[in-house]
Amino acid sequence: MSLFVTFEGPEGSGKSTQARLLYESLHARRFPVILTREPGGTRIGDLIRRIVLDLQHTEMAPTTEMLLFSAARAQLVSEVIRPYLDQGGIVLCDRYADSTFAYQGYGLGRDLAELRVITAAATGGLRPDITFYLDISAVEGLERKCRKGARSTGQHGVGVEWNRLDARELEYHRRVEAGYRELIAADPERWRVLDARQSIEALAEQIAAIVEPYLASITRLETVP
Ligand SMILES: Nc1ncnc2c1ncn2[C@@H]1O[C@H](COP(=O)(O)OP(=O)(O)O)[C@@H](O)[C@H]1O
Ligand SMILES: [Mg+2]
Repeated sequence: MSLFVTFEGPEGSGKSTQARLLYESLHARRFPVILTREPGGTRIGDLIRRIVLDLQHTEMAPTTEMLLFSAARAQLVSEVIRPYLDQGGIVLCDRYADSTFAYQGYGLGRDLAELRVITAAATGGLRPDITFYLDISAVEGLERKCRKGARSTGQHGVGVEWNRLDARELEYHRRVEAGYRELIAADPERWRVLDARQSIEALAEQIAAIVEPYLASITRLETVP
């Protein structure tokens, strides 16, 4: 058996923090686990990530954006995620296909049926076993991210990770948030919604507890004698 876990939510909700903590705890327990992220996670995907998140690319057409995300995802699934799951491993992914529906679908108003077709092609139909939604308002998330940016650069909102998509207007981020709610309502078995305003430690504990039952079917790595 294998396990595919994804992390979703607005920017600044703590996805990368929680994905890393879960990775570290599973790795320490000798579970076969990898942590990857979207867009990126492969050599080709990282190049696409640079194009898609570049603040200077203001002329990027919504169709281009959607196809680039999907192209990066196709590469990640075929090069990294699918092979690792086939070996019986655990894959943790910081954002996945749901982000396309939330950001390009609900956020930018793209046709959802069209997105489903393209996403099915990009993923080969691969869906996560568990998707954590780190629930925080878009405003609060962006504030967290701004604070982080301000600390690291001395300039408000110009943090290391501040990107083209974060810079969109607040109304867009609100549509994304509402879109996530619809995705969750449509597939409540897969989604686990957590209040992202809790402490990092409290969230990590809840995530670990939800994942624990799934670990019974995963074969641990041999301990080197
Ligand atoms: N539960 C939390 N409470 C307070 N701050 C947090 C929490 N989780 C993460 N942070 C901080 O918020 C910022 C964004 O976290 P990050 O994990 O990068 O979010 P994301 O990957 O969702 O954008 C970081 O500075 C991080 O340390
Ligand atoms: Mg992140």
